[in-house]
Amino acid sequence: MANAKDIIIACDFKSADETIKFLDKLTRIRDEVIHCDDITVGAGRPFVKVGMEIFYAEGPAIIKMLKERGHKVFLDLKLHDIPNTVKRTMQVLGEYGVDMVNVHAAGGRAMMEAAREGLMLGAARYADKPKLIAVTQLTSTDEDTMHSELLIDRPLDVVVKHYALNAKEAGLDGVVCSAFEARAIHETCGDDFITVTPGIRFADSASDDQRRIMTPAQAREAGSDYIVVGRPITAAERPIDAYTRCREEFLGK
Ligand code: C5P
Repeated sequence: MANAKDIIIACDFKSADETIKFLDKLTRIRDEVIHCDDITVGAGRPFVKVGMEIFYAEGPAIIKMLKERGHKVFLDLKLHDIPNTVKRTMQVLGEYGVDMVNVHAAGGRAMMEAAREGLMLGAARYADKPKLIAVTQLTSTDEDTMHSELLIDRPLDVVVKHYALNAKEAGLDGVVCSAFEARAIHETCGDDFITVTPGIRFADSASDDQRRIMTPAQAREAGSDYIVVGRPITAAERPIDAYTRCREEFLGK
């Protein structure tokens, strides 16, 4: 079965207030103009990503608020600790009803297996089980850093594919990776193993601090299942136009 495809908006705001202000603007217009035929409250609300900054500032209340407003939530905390600690923490996160959560693949298979066990225990009461994905190598880690600082001497692409395979064998659903790696990861781990790819920019927008970037259309061609898009939408003059453009390019609708 083909993977679901979606756009995840990185809500890298400082506070819940700023996040609500942004989402109010986006969803009000969206509900009126694009999804005026939605009959279910919250249907069609964008999938959003909550990162460490806002989660540590606002705590679980931010997740509760987003879920009550009908958003799917990717909680991007990138856990990396001993298996027992990760399992227990994942159980807590699973109880929040998040839709996607992640760990560092560098924590190893036993840690990833423990993460999955904990998450499923926490999410036991939810019919839709959360996706658990792994970060292979951070996109801020280049091959030189990997060789000279981390003393990992294999080529970056080999390490990324190997970590993805470890994640698959540990029972995870997919990985966060660059869109440039999505095809190779699907070839290594199968089409149903999901690829979640940040580093997305429109052809005519600034690259900011992202180095290896693709447009939503290119990411689709490259085999990405979910694209994570922050500033091209959150910093746009009209975020709804930017989100709509993403949907057209990536989802064809
Ligand atoms: O604003 P921008 O589109 O660059 O946001 C990308 C989001 O994806 C940010 O929240 C960033 O932390 C996250 N991310 C990333 N690269 C990774 C993992 C996560 O850019 N390798």
